[in-house]
Amino acid sequence: MSRKTIIAGNWKMNKTAGEARELARELSAAVDKLSQKDLPQIVLCPTFTSLPAVTTTLTGNKKLAVGAQNMDYRDNGAFTGEISAPMLLDLGVQYILIGHSERRQFFGETDLTVNQKLKAALKHKLVPIVCVGESLDEREGNLTDKVVAKQVAGALQDIAEQELESLIIAYEPVWAIGTGKSCDSEEANRVCGLIRTTINEYYKTSGKPGDKVPVLYGGSVTPANCEEQLAKPNIDGSLVGGASLKAPDFVAIIEAGAKRVARTPQVV
Ligand code: 13P
Repeated sequence: MSRKTIIAGNWKMNKTAGEARELARELSAAVDKLSQKDLPQIVLCPTFTSLPAVTTTLTGNKKLAVGAQNMDYRDNGAFTGEISAPMLLDLGVQYILIGHSERRQFFGETDLTVNQKLKAALKHKLVPIVCVGESLDEREGNLTDKVVAKQVAGALQDIAEQELESLIIAYEPVWAIGTGKSCDSEEANRVCGLIRTTINEYYKTSGKPGDKVPVLYGGSVTPANCEEQLAKPNIDGSLVGGASLKAPDFVAIIEAGAKRVARTPQVV
């Protein structure tokens, strides 16, 4: 049985609530026109301020779910400016991006905070999309495998194998994000496989939980390169930045996801 196909759009710090509502409407109308049989799971991740507009627009839509881009790991308290899992759930948010490289780079996210947030997401039944990936210096220093394995193992600290059911990982090499230089699909496939092996080695059980975890690729994904990426056995979906802000581009990537679904029986 193969893993679920997921196409997620990370809108980053773009769009006012009105603009986000418009894009969600446009996407929803376009997705309605596609064959519903083979649709992948689609996740839209707008800014916090656009979450109510987008969740309201997509109410009852099973194929387009909403994710947030970050959260605090605590439920409430004196943490000015932060937003918690219960607050996101209250808005109808179902997915959460954790440890995006921009958060690691610019906002002090570490393997420890990623682990804390992952635990909070699992506790509250938000579906976590944990992002990992090496910088250009690390790749050039032949450290890719070491860095990615460390980030994966760091995220999983003290998390029981049975809790992993909803986990999604995204491999996003930092040097490929927003640069137009996407990772070669063969190499992306190799690292996505390494992520799965790392999970299996971390748990050392016969259950091989890593084999069940969907691993997405992200980093300059476009309508032109997504099909080749999604044809690789270890790549179960796309985490899309820039191209997710334009409805026709994102719909084209969703259609490539649908081709993967049609080729492979999906886990429900
Ligand atoms: P781009 O698709 O713009 O390279 O961004 C990728 C990304 O960071 C998605 O989370």
